[in-house]
Amino acid sequence: MTRSRPAANAATATVRVGLGERAYDIVIGSGVLDDVGTQLAAVTRPGQAVVISNPVVGGLFRARVTAALATAGFRVAAIEIPDGEEHKNLAWVAFAYERLIEAHADRSTPVLALGGGVIGDLAGFVAATYLRGVPFVQLPTTLLAQVDSSVGGKTGVNLPAGKNLIGAFYQPRLVLSDIAALHSLPKREFLAGLAEVIKYGIILDAELFALVETELARVMARDEGLLRTIVRRCCELKATVVERDEREADHRAILNFGHTLGHAIEALTDYRRFLHGEAVAIGMAFAARVSRSRGFCDDETVRRIVTLLTRAGLPVAVPPDAAGQALVLAIETDKKVAGGKVKFVCVEAVGRSRFELLAADVIAAQATA
Ligand code: NAD
Ligand code: GLY
Repeated sequence: MTRSRPAANAATATVRVGLGERAYDIVIGSGVLDDVGTQLAAVTRPGQAVVISNPVVGGLFRARVTAALATAGFRVAAIEIPDGEEHKNLAWVAFAYERLIEAHADRSTPVLALGGGVIGDLAGFVAATYLRGVPFVQLPTTLLAQVDSSVGGKTGVNLPAGKNLIGAFYQPRLVLSDIAALHSLPKREFLAGLAEVIKYGIILDAELFALVETELARVMARDEGLLRTIVRRCCELKATVVERDEREADHRAILNFGHTLGHAIEALTDYRRFLHGEAVAIGMAFAARVSRSRGFCDDETVRRIVTLLTRAGLPVAVPPDAAGQALVLAIETDKKVAGGKVKFVCVEAVGRSRFELLAADVIAAQATA
């Protein structure tokens, strides 16, 4: 069971992901990147450590992370992947393997992902597969990565045929979420992460949704105390889902709320027009309307969801070029479709959700309804 507790430093919270021998802590607070050496030494023996990052995040935080690791007795090698989703692929995985070989990394060498979800997914896949698996640590620096992608062990890369088609479930040994790192995040990226926060509220936690509704101005101002509370709550919710269904046999798919249409829109717009969280925002407004049309929720629920997303500066309208047969095909191409039906996540009320099996053409028809 997921437990959350304040840590020694009162400004830090720890969420435990209870997965038996693969259990781990998520440590959340301002400045926790400076604790990475001592935290890592608690879960693995000091020796060599490899930090995978990109030039943007590396430029901002790598020196601090390297210094903290060195103080705790780690020798640090750095691997830099160019910034951007287009580099989350097997070619850059191979590049990372080659650098690990050059650095004489062995099976005890921890790989640390310093960055957003792109670096986390790629580095996690590298850690899962290099020498059949080395210790992995997440140092998420985007809101999306802190509330979602760094938790739960989904790692992977894209193929030309689609996103995240290659991957592995591989849990980290430790996650350190530094809230202060979010100040340098571009506003658009911050809002895309906020879409995932709103998602947790809609599907699982009416209180979280209401907190964002009432405190949106402070959230947007990146109030560190409030963000710590929000990141911790999202991690608790995700940990509870992952503990129940680590490999998405069933229940974990609840986290795909808004993602059926979101993924299709991302694909139809060549992954260029919308950030993932923006496409998910459109998908969540759409899923709320689908839920209403099937009688699962009332108008007020749809109104609250669309209003909050709009106030947060997120898009809610399905783009006109993502409709018709192209949309049906894009939904069917998504890897989560089985037997012609999509396990579509519907909302019943803010904080409560359910699955409904729907055909792709039935879903797509709602886009123009
Ligand atoms: P990202 O990793 O591309 O980061 C967004 C941008 O912000 C990048 O340009 C990055 O360099 C920059 N950046 C990161 N931290 C910064 C900081 N603190 N200050 C300034 N700039 C910073 O994008 P993302 O939204 O974090 O992640 C998206 C990826 O996550 C996608 O590939 C998606 O498939 C994946 N994802 C994975 C899971 C999972 O469970 N594994 C869940 C959701 C999304
Ligand atoms: N982002 C959805 C999941 O981790 O399952």
